[in-house]
Amino acid sequence: MIKTIYLSRHGQSLNNTKKLIGGNSGLSSDGKQYSYKLHQYFKNNNINVNVITSNLIRTIQTAKYFNETTQFEELNEINSGICDSMTYLEIENKYPEEFNKRKTNKYYYRYPEGESYSDINSRLKKIYNLINDTETDLLIIAHQAVLRVLISNYIYSDIKDIPYLDVSLNTIYKIIIEENSCKLEIINSI
Ligand code: G3H
Repeated sequence: MIKTIYLSRHGQSLNNTKKLIGGNSGLSSDGKQYSYKLHQYFKNNNINVNVITSNLIRTIQTAKYFNETTQFEELNEINSGICDSMTYLEIENKYPEEFNKRKTNKYYYRYPEGESYSDINSRLKKIYNLINDTETDLLIIAHQAVLRVLISNYIYSDIKDIPYLDVSLNTIYKIIIEENSCKLEIINSI
């Protein structure tokens, strides 16, 4: 059966504006505008989707114009452990060894007290099953690292490239899953 999943990052968050990773901030005014436009896109194109988000404030706010949404903690952003809510520059200054270890092997690097990209792939099993078992099309509103892993589950990427895949804000990634193949379309003018 052909099925389509639409993937989007949350709208710009207040932490994005301060270049802080992780945390649990709400949306900036740009982010709130995106949340409105995202809903309009589905409404204007008569696309019916079930909407699922992470359980972090920024994705829940991004989904606010959709009637029913379900939260899954498996869709939460990578847990950056002791580096949560810091800028990359702060991490480099405070934990230079960690910063360099991550650069060397980003997919398998696990933040102290946090996660690796590989850990995200394990916890996404529940979401892969949900996608398989759901008959309706889905809109998944999540986060950069999680969407890199999710997209690469359908569109082949070498493991070393996954943590660098371009997954931009204000963009919908549409994956059409067919019996034996998957197609990716990028919608960035909504
Ligand atoms: O934590 C922030 C990002 O979404 C993950 O990006 O793996 O390139 O640091 P990064």
